[in-house]
Amino acid sequence: MTTALVTGGNRGIGKAIAAGLRDEGLRVIIGARDPDEGAAAAAELGVEAKRLDLNDPTSIKESFAWIGEVGVLVNNAGILEDEDFLDANENFARSMQIMVHAPFELIRAARPGMEARGYGRIVNLSSGWGSFEEGFGGGGAYSIAKASLNALTLRASQVLSDSIKINAVCPGWVATRMGGSAAPRDAEEGAETAIWLATLPEDGPTGGFFRDKKEIPW
Ligand SMILES: NC(=O)c1ccc[n+]([C@@H]2O[C@H](COP(=O)([O-])OP(=O)(O)OC[C@H]3O[C@@H](n4cnc5c(N)ncnc54)[C@H](OP(=O)(O)O)[C@@H]3O)[C@@H](O)[C@H]2O)c1
Repeated sequence: MTTALVTGGNRGIGKAIAAGLRDEGLRVIIGARDPDEGAAAAAELGVEAKRLDLNDPTSIKESFAWIGEVGVLVNNAGILEDEDFLDANENFARSMQIMVHAPFELIRAARPGMEARGYGRIVNLSSGWGSFEEGFGGGGAYSIAKASLNALTLRASQVLSDSIKINAVCPGWVATRMGGSAAPRDAEEGAETAIWLATLPEDGPTGGFFRDKKEIPW
């Protein structure tokens, strides 16, 4: 059975992705920085949970040692902060850690097993705010981190073996703690394209940026 790891799977879009992958028949592990929240969400969904704090490099190593091989990696966790990122605060470093460095480390950790088994699907939760074409947006360093995650996605697709598909997704504007209650989409709608990318067939795309299952410009 293929194992899927969904970071930030304790709530919001990540939780909906975890539920969708469970329905696809995968063994799903929610990565959550708060073990109690992870355990509660996992019990509700009938999946597993592992403590995974993306601010903590040892947590990334420990979670992989515990999980073993991962066939599907969904880099979902994200933060959106309001501060002016050019101020002398830690917002820039925090955003880059959670949305770029941690996905980079997780991709590196997942890669050997995926290459050995000849199967891997990696989905990076990005945003239209990380698109040059759409002009960036959002507070703090969010758009810079998402643009970097997009670059990581495209460059990794050029380096990883053909059996591993890696794509970025914009979920649209989704009613979660991050998106706020005015957002027009629910978490299940926001999860749809990520679930599709996480379960792509062998002839599916790689190195792309998608919204509503359609490719969008970087
Ligand atoms: N909502 C939208 O409209 C929207 C639009 C475009 C893109 N996105 C992207 O979609 C993804 C999911 O967003 P969402 O709306 O579901 O957000 P959310 O409800 O705020 O959930 C964010 C998730 O990330 C986790 N997280 C934050 N920092 C973490 C850390 N250091 N270690 C591990 N997990 C951490 C949170 O865990 P805690 O519960 O412990 O805080 C939570 O599970 C994000 O990457 C976001 O940028 C969302």
